[in-house]
Amino acid sequence: MTSDHWRTIKALPQVSLNQLFEEDADRLKYLGLEQSGIYFDLSKTHLNRQAIQAFQELAGDVGLSGKMNALLSGEPVNISEGRAAEHCAERGTGDSASVDNARALHRRMKSLIEIIDSGALGEFTQIIHLGIGGSALGPKMLHQALKLGDEKYELAVVSNIDGTALEPVLERFTAEKTLLVIASKTFTTAETLLNAQSVLDWMREQGVVDPLGQVVALTADPEQAVQWGVDETRILPFSETVGGRYSLWSSIGFSVALALGHDVFADLLAGAAAMDEHFQAAGWDQNIPVLAAFADQYYAQVRGCETRAVFAYDERLGLLADYLQQLEMESNGKSVTIDGEPLSLNSSPIVWGGVGTDAQHAVFQLLHQGSHLVPVEFLAVIEPGDSLNPAHHNGLLLNCFAQGAALMAGKKSDDSHRNYQGDRPSVTILLEELEARSLGALLAFYEHRTFVNAVLLNINPFDQFGVELGKQMANKLAAEDGNRLDASTEELKRRAFGA
Ligand code: F6P
Repeated sequence: MTSDHWRTIKALPQVSLNQLFEEDADRLKYLGLEQSGIYFDLSKTHLNRQAIQAFQELAGDVGLSGKMNALLSGEPVNISEGRAAEHCAERGTGDSASVDNARALHRRMKSLIEIIDSGALGEFTQIIHLGIGGSALGPKMLHQALKLGDEKYELAVVSNIDGTALEPVLERFTAEKTLLVIASKTFTTAETLLNAQSVLDWMREQGVVDPLGQVVALTADPEQAVQWGVDETRILPFSETVGGRYSLWSSIGFSVALALGHDVFADLLAGAAAMDEHFQAAGWDQNIPVLAAFADQYYAQVRGCETRAVFAYDERLGLLADYLQQLEMESNGKSVTIDGEPLSLNSSPIVWGGVGTDAQHAVFQLLHQGSHLVPVEFLAVIEPGDSLNPAHHNGLLLNCFAQGAALMAGKKSDDSHRNYQGDRPSVTILLEELEARSLGALLAFYEHRTFVNAVLLNINPFDQFGVELGKQMANKLAAEDGNRLDASTEELKRRAFGA
């Protein structure tokens, strides 16, 4: 029974990290794993052979193999919405009709990029990509990570309804040289459509005669886009079965593919495909997403950790924590099981983070000496992204490695203020190089890890009903129909807008 497995896991002896290293000289052999030019070091977690064995038994009991197969073959794993979750089909794994469909839609995307590059639609040098959540976080993060700075197109990704996000872009950009890309799976999202309308208004004010001629739409609902006014020939569809936060592999990746080149996008997909293959083929005790999820569950359920911190020691990955927040918290922030019963386990940890070394001088105090136990994830890249004095990059990497070591080792002092308890876990993910393939593999790793966590929790990671209520309330608050919300909210509205 599943609950017996959890009891076994919770009863595992709590051995310190230092001791785990002392006891087992081979620790790195099974907890240091390589895939697609990335070294994943899980040795500074409390996993050991006994814990891995116990988690494997739990995984067997919850049917991880069957659920992985269901995901990777396009079965309707998103039970509450009665559909499959086919982001892997975008990179070549899944139901064959879905894979063919994804390939055909990628070809359309490539053709449109060629047409735009040829100048046939206008002399564009600037792209405004509008979208929010999964329709923005992936493209924005990828662009920041992979841009070299000498690209033909300048790309601005704008998501917030706050006009102070869009206005500076409009002030900087030239209307006739701007391609407007509207990214929205549903093509109904209020923020994105209002921003799009404002960009069209700006184009008109700037003398563009046919603003809609400068629009491309990325959506799973082409009809909505047509109704909104987008020309049918400029719509790049993607499948309804690709979830928003899993959509950067679909036509949602168009702006990045245009800005950085289609080859970059193809490499990204190839990198993700390599991780898919690893996920599908590797035994659980060597399977990187599976082992990472075992560690996640160990900290969430056994040690009661409510958060996990992610620090990229690389400015280019400065948006990774934001991207992972949506991926993990929107997927696994649930309180009911897949069958709708109350969840008795802790759901997704709160994912937070930033970049090193900056974060060391801001939040690491709590990580070293605070009363919360926070599993930390460090990311670093061996090949530097800059050409300055190597002291910069060497210092960056050494700081990253030293933080993991310090969290684990601690330092005893008779002065309690200066005492470091140590035994604080971390995972270090070391990329040889930051390029499209390794980044594709890294993101696929995070997707699969999120999925395995969901399977171990027995929840559905592919719906997100929790975001709906706030949207409905915003509409209700906007409506002048006499229906009132609570007194506090109505007073806030009165102060902002008058009676
Ligand atoms: O509000 C949540 C959400 O539905 C996300 O899941 C999604 O990525 C985002 O909004 C944007 O939705 P759309 O792509 O349909 O505009």
